[in-house]
Amino acid sequence: MMLGLGVAACARQPVPLSAPASPLPSTGRVREMNLTAQPVQLDLGGRTVTTWSYGQVPGAPLRATAGDRVRIRLRNELPEATTVHWHGLPVPNSMDGVPDVTMPAVEPGGEFTYDFVVPVSGTHWLHPHTGLAQLDRGLYAPFIVDDPREPGDYDREWIVVLDDWTDGVGPSPQEIYDDLVATGGQTSGGMMGMDHGGMMGGGDVTYPLYLINGRSPSDPQVLRARPGERIRIRFINAGADTVFTVALGGHRMRVTHADGYPVRPVSTQALQIGMGERYDVVVTAQDGRFPLVAQADGKSGYALAYLRTGTGGSTQRPSELDAYPLAVSALQAAPGTALPAREADETADLTLSGSMAPYRWTINGATYEQAEPIKVESGQLLRLRMVNMSMMAHPMHLHGHTFQVGGAGSAGPRKDTVLIPPMGSVTADLIADNPGTWMLHCHNAYHAEAGMMTRLDYR
Ligand code: C2O
Ligand code: CU
Repeated sequence: MMLGLGVAACARQPVPLSAPASPLPSTGRVREMNLTAQPVQLDLGGRTVTTWSYGQVPGAPLRATAGDRVRIRLRNELPEATTVHWHGLPVPNSMDGVPDVTMPAVEPGGEFTYDFVVPVSGTHWLHPHTGLAQLDRGLYAPFIVDDPREPGDYDREWIVVLDDWTDGVGPSPQEIYDDLVATGGQTSGGMMGMDHGGMMGGGDVTYPLYLINGRSPSDPQVLRARPGERIRIRFINAGADTVFTVALGGHRMRVTHADGYPVRPVSTQALQIGMGERYDVVVTAQDGRFPLVAQADGKSGYALAYLRTGTGGSTQRPSELDAYPLAVSALQAAPGTALPAREADETADLTLSGSMAPYRWTINGATYEQAEPIKVESGQLLRLRMVNMSMMAHPMHLHGHTFQVGGAGSAGPRKDTVLIPPMGSVTADLIADNPGTWMLHCHNAYHAEAGMMTRLDYR
């Protein structure tokens, strides 16, 4: 089933590179990789389903060093057109993988070679940018970028990919969407996230399963380690409609990176992760067996894995999940990663709202088809003022850039995806340093499908 995914080969002679958007020196290395989008069988703890993936769920991690040039050949063995978007990597616009905006979609049986210099380090990921049928299936893989300047202050690494799952178990993503449109989600999901035990901000869809690394709670992955080892956990929320709160029983997590960028380390018992967001944490392994639980916010399910360093320990739901989860407002950019304080040249106000009947999610009252793109000039500082007028959290993601949450010169972290809480707001600044036509959208796949998407265009 694995088709040579993520296998990196180094070319013999260094290739001269020009990398305009890259702050990192080129390594002179070229890595050739293959990615095949294809139907596969997935074993969900005794139940085998057919789904779409990059060979397995999640796809095998792609790995590179910042400054490497990658040539990634995508082959499309799906029955419909696809593309790949490199979530978190500010690649040149023509490599960004948005069909009909940055490239033509790759037709069934076709292929396309993405070719770019890896611009930043950190925990990132890849997924198609085409339609619910692909976004809420198993088409995702980690993209891990090492930074030669960052010492690996840990003994072991664990990539933990979270997902909400329905394909082959419940209704198909398209059936769910059609039901949301027809009934406002009365049968398949929630009403504005409010009928799930009073908790707000969950998604529109109730899922039969939640997965960690493609495994259901009935067949959890077990990471074996030794007591005292320092484990770097790279969390990626690949879910379509689920915000997760994660905790590792018996442990505190030291958060070191948000969306690939270093933050001032902060210790927490529980961590909230929106769709598309990534967080890196370091834990010092205790002795025993410990559940890693990702609770689906506002929903009744969870995803599960285990850390095992010895016998004994608990298999109970971690009490850490009852602690107040760390929010993005508690994070600060690490020294050297903040944008310098500067007045905004342009400000874009984005009011996020929606309705269930008709099922419609909007930015400034407009769906994507109606939206007037945000305009910016190269070199400008653009301020995004995102105000959520709904009872649902929206993870807002910008392609091609990272912004500083809280504004340039503030203490906030650098990110590319930020969760705007129900009735809350977030201000984020970015430097327009990567010309092109870029998507700005909610990373809830159903919200994006229902219109919550706009564009950032360079003049
Ligand atoms: Cu992770 Cu436009 O997407
Ligand atoms: Cu949304």
